[in-house]
Amino acid sequence: MPRRTRTQDVPRPFLKWAGGKGQLLDELRARVVLGQPFARYHEPFIGGAALFFDLHRCDMLPEGRSLLSDTNERLIEAYLGVRDDVDGVIARLRMHAECHSRDYYYQTRARVPDDLAGRAARIIYLNRTCFNGLYRENSQGEFNVPVGDYRNPMICDEANLRAVASALSRARIEARPFATVLDYARPDDFVYFDPPYHPISKTASFTAYAKDKFGESDQRELAAVFAELTMRGVKALLSNSMTDLIRDLYRDFTIEEVYANRAINSNAARRGKVPEALIRNF
Ligand SMILES: C[S@@+](CC[C@H](N)C(=O)[O-])C[C@H]1O[C@@H](n2cnc3c(N)ncnc32)[C@H](O)[C@@H]1O
Repeated sequence: MPRRTRTQDVPRPFLKWAGGKGQLLDELRARVVLGQPFARYHEPFIGGAALFFDLHRCDMLPEGRSLLSDTNERLIEAYLGVRDDVDGVIARLRMHAECHSRDYYYQTRARVPDDLAGRAARIIYLNRTCFNGLYRENSQGEFNVPVGDYRNPMICDEANLRAVASALSRARIEARPFATVLDYARPDDFVYFDPPYHPISKTASFTAYAKDKFGESDQRELAAVFAELTMRGVKALLSNSMTDLIRDLYRDFTIEEVYANRAINSNAARRGKVPEALIRNF
């Protein structure tokens, strides 16, 4: 399959995100090439936005505005803060880097600043210094990960943040559920869906990104949205786990098996290559 090489190192994801697509980028980019040309790019489960930044680095995003969304409001605030006030975010992150200690981490975790740049910097700082670098919220929607044990965490990566701000400058970024993509996508647009994966087994699930879990009914609703977009002439690509439910829900589309190294699994013995499904309607 045709591939494009990277033209530059930045922008890259500025948050470590469970389910991040860093390991699958070559496979995903090759499918995006098959979907070209398209008018606008949509990502309704943005997370760390690994594919969006990759496409930006490879100069593969179209002229039209990209539409990026997710239901996690703190995550969306981080994107908006970096886009709209990168200087403010960098200044706060420098301060966090200077003050970083175990106690300072817990003080910062306990206090949500009033301003957008402060909230964005708080999430980036916590994400860079927390245990295992994973984002998790309790039932009240509060970030509840303990401090990690890094020697020299990279808290303020200024060059990357500036490149991220520039990549986001023309993007529409909103906190909203995935099904609202139906209100925005037009024929010839391209949508990449990277939902919380359907669990392979009960213990394998990692769907606690936010207080609302993503269950089987959500997977069914997503498949219905995928089918509706297909009817409307919107190109859609989706990644998920390779389970019987997923094979069944997308049986009318092209389903390909690809392999990625999954890093986030508390049991190190279970880390390794697992099959994942890439599904497309073009
Ligand atoms: C697998 S992650 C996306 C990872 C991302 N592609 C990356 O490279 O980092 C799934 C995302 O879906 C979001 N999410 C969960 N339920 C959602 C919903 N109903 N609508 C939109 N986003 C949702 C989570 O907040 C999480 O950020």
